[in-house]
Amino acid sequence: MFNIALDGPGGAGKSSIAKAVAKELGFIYVDTGALYRAIGLYSLRNAIDTKDIDGVINSLKSINVDFTYVDGEQKVLLNNDDVSTDIRLPEVSMAASNVSAIPEVRSFLLDLQRKIANEKDCLMDGRDIGTVILPNAQLKIFLTASAEVRAKRRFDELTAKGQEVNYDEILKDLNERDYQDTHREIAPLKQADDAVLLDTSDMTFDEVKAKILALYEERK
Ligand code: DC
Repeated sequence: MFNIALDGPGGAGKSSIAKAVAKELGFIYVDTGALYRAIGLYSLRNAIDTKDIDGVINSLKSINVDFTYVDGEQKVLLNNDDVSTDIRLPEVSMAASNVSAIPEVRSFLLDLQRKIANEKDCLMDGRDIGTVILPNAQLKIFLTASAEVRAKRRFDELTAKGQEVNYDEILKDLNERDYQDTHREIAPLKQADDAVLLDTSDMTFDEVKAKILALYEERK
């Protein structure tokens, strides 16, 4: 199997780039953030405080998370329910970041991620794919951009969808989540030693896509 690990902070454009590259290569795209989001969503729905470590750990007994693919698109199942839309609610982002700092949550989701990568050529995006989940991935990329550029991209994306959003709030939320994801004790967001760093602050979408495809050609 050929595995591409794509890590980086929130809002760096990982998922849109990953989707485009995976499509071009005929790989499946695995969005691992969706798994942490599903657990965050479960907590919110069941009034479990995502900072209450024991409460979240206890809830894992009642949770089954899985992926399915419909027309090549990843769907996330929470206890057999398709929650792919609900996990994108803004309040789920911080909930996901909170639960993702709990070691038991990370080990709960580990096998599922490794199993997919073992069975299929895939491009997997997340925070710890190159460092922890797939340390032997043939290609590792760390995708980043300045916080301001990432916030502006998210602002434009949401505004284009007709949502009324505030740039400063988006920037503050991104910074808070990055700080938390980078400073947690277990599997923090960090560039793997053998990952290629791509700072996309001054690159177009097509340039980033072409660069990753070129790296793949080199490695395959
Ligand atoms: O990629 P995302 O924004 O959907 O991820 C949501 C949160 O999940 C993110 O703030 C941190 C966590 N996460 C993680 O800890 N490890 C991953 N591989 C993917 C996401």
